[in-house]
Amino acid sequence: MRFDHKCALITGGGSGIGRAVCLAFAREGADVGVADVSLEGAEATAQEVRKNGRKAVALRVDVTDPASVQAMVNQAVAALGRIDTLVNSAGVREIVPFLQLPFAEWQRVIATNLTGTFLCSQAVAQYFVAQGRGGKIVNLASVAGLMAVPNRAAYVSSKHAVVGLTKEMAMELADNSIQVNAVAPGVVRTSSSPHPRPTLLLVQHSPSTVDLWPGKCSEKGGDLCNSKVKLLLLQVPAVESAKRLRCVLHGKERILR
Ligand SMILES: NC(=O)c1ccc[n+]([C@@H]2O[C@H](COP(=O)([O-])OP(=O)(O)OC[C@H]3O[C@@H](n4cnc5c(N)ncnc54)[C@H](O)[C@@H]3O)[C@@H](O)[C@H]2O)c1
Repeated sequence: MRFDHKCALITGGGSGIGRAVCLAFAREGADVGVADVSLEGAEATAQEVRKNGRKAVALRVDVTDPASVQAMVNQAVAALGRIDTLVNSAGVREIVPFLQLPFAEWQRVIATNLTGTFLCSQAVAQYFVAQGRGGKIVNLASVAGLMAVPNRAAYVSSKHAVVGLTKEMAMELADNSIQVNAVAPGVVRTSSSPHPRPTLLLVQHSPSTVDLWPGKCSEKGGDLCNSKVKLLLLQVPAVESAKRLRCVLHGKERILR
């Protein structure tokens, strides 16, 4: 299997896409750190992982809190022995018109989606560098990180920033053999979006499906709460930009592994 002897740490693993990613890694042989602000959700996912015969540890984390994030990394390493991959899936969104968007709601979404991705990525990247083995980081962006979506000023801003942060990390961390990518799902039916409206965004931005996770990704609009996980994941052009940027800066082409 592709991830034998590997350990993946997934934030937001207690539900939705994060849970599906945990189970997909487990099916491909990885042990899994399931981190979520809901310990109950994390534990439920961890139990599913164990049913696949893999080791799992449920961790409570608030990705907006640096101390909580560092504790998550320390506990994951203590329980699993190592971390090879981080997936930043913890996220929240608002549905409020721009003119009425409360400051506190703006802060909540930015803190979780953007600052949380920064804090978790930095803590795990520091661990990767200390270990000297490199590693992989995957950020959950969104089609909302590539275009405007009505009534989601904070969410759209946070996801655009996640795309930018991904480019920056990919460039800065490449010399440490740390590969950083983002994926931009279209509308995915999960517990937080149980009845997504089919939108043109999905159609316009799904020229192909990309197998970035373990498991098949073939069908459009897969239900990730379902055991038959179908992942519709769109490549963020930013990742290509990051490669090009790196070439310019270093004067010669190097491939981000
Ligand atoms: N569902 C979609 O249509 C869709 C589309 C594009 C991108 N995404 C992105 O995918 C990711 C997962 O989305 P989902 O639909 O599975 O949502 P979800 O609500 O089902 O899962 C998000 C998880 O994050 C956790 N979480 C929230 N705040 C947290 C915090 N401060 N610390 C730790 N954990 C926290 C929640 O408890 C929850 O388990 C998000 O980043 C989301 O923006 C979702």
